[in-house]
Amino acid sequence: MDAAIERAVEVLRAGGLVAFPTETVYGLGAAARLPAAVRRVFQAKGRPAGHPLIVHLASANWIGGWARDVPADARRLAEALWPGPLTLVLRRRPDVPRVIVGDEATVALRVPDHPVALALLEGLGDGIAAPSANRFGGVSPTTAAHVALDLGDRVDLILDGGPCRVGVESTILDLSTGQPRLLRPGGVPTEAIAELLGATVEVAERGVGLPRAPGTLPSHYAPRADVWVVAADEVEAALGRAAGDGLRAVLLGPPGEHDGPLIDLPREPHDAARRLYAALREVDARGFDVAVVVLPEERGLGRAVADRLRRAAAPRAG
Ligand code: TXA
Ligand code: MG
Repeated sequence: MDAAIERAVEVLRAGGLVAFPTETVYGLGAAARLPAAVRRVFQAKGRPAGHPLIVHLASANWIGGWARDVPADARRLAEALWPGPLTLVLRRRPDVPRVIVGDEATVALRVPDHPVALALLEGLGDGIAAPSANRFGGVSPTTAAHVALDLGDRVDLILDGGPCRVGVESTILDLSTGQPRLLRPGGVPTEAIAELLGATVEVAERGVGLPRAPGTLPSHYAPRADVWVVAADEVEAALGRAAGDGLRAVLLGPPGEHDGPLIDLPREPHDAARRLYAALREVDARGFDVAVVVLPEERGLGRAVADRLRRAAAPRAG
């Protein structure tokens, strides 16, 4: 085993926290069978208890250690899309630590598509509970440097695997009832899931009966600056309005479309997803008050990018 992985496995076994790269975003990991370690994840993030965590696995063969009554649809999707940016919500085994799942009768599972994450999981030999490695409500980290900025010494070890290839979090699909439900759009397009299932995928509305999911709160993935989502023909007016109010505004968009301050956010959905969180962080780092942005078309990865931008733009609590 690689020396860095070996050290990270030791930290996990001792109940410590390891930030690690995945293809989507960096995760803040704890050994999932150690409740005290998992509790530390919530403290480090400032995440309220009761918001369930995803358990990461090295392979679909590990599903049985966490879930029961696994439907054929789950096997089919895992076979086709794991390792990859898809999280499956399944009925859980009774022995899944409560600190991971809160009051849910379900557990969220995924196999990440990143050699470092997989080596860490293989080394530990069991599941790793991990949310995104950022402070609660903030922008997810897509580099090791982002993790260090957000969490500093709240994490025992950071494994650096370079920038994340996908850049937005996994798609979350609830297969715990008869009807597949999309809980969060993400790295696997909904269209791909519908095609594999030969069925339509219902989009869950937030409300009664849904688990508390921070990624589905109206305001989340938010920088300090305000984000204004506007129509393509409203960009110049919005920038003018911001300037009139004495606000420092920047356009998030493809270069060359605008003479004033601009932070690169490509139009092509895969490129946009990969750049999105670094771009939102740059808005804050450069001291802008407002970022003006046009949503991508809601197809493929564009759905996840639009979802994150809308939540970044939502009114903030408190
Ligand atoms: O790409 C990802 O999914 C990243 C990487 C690190 O794997 N992880 C991630 O974790 O985004 P987090 O905690 O930031 O978001 C996980 C989402 C939360 O909205 C959580 O509430 C939801 O998954 N979730 C976890 N367990 C659940 C369950 N049993 N039922 C419904 N939602 C669940
Ligand atoms: Mg998160």
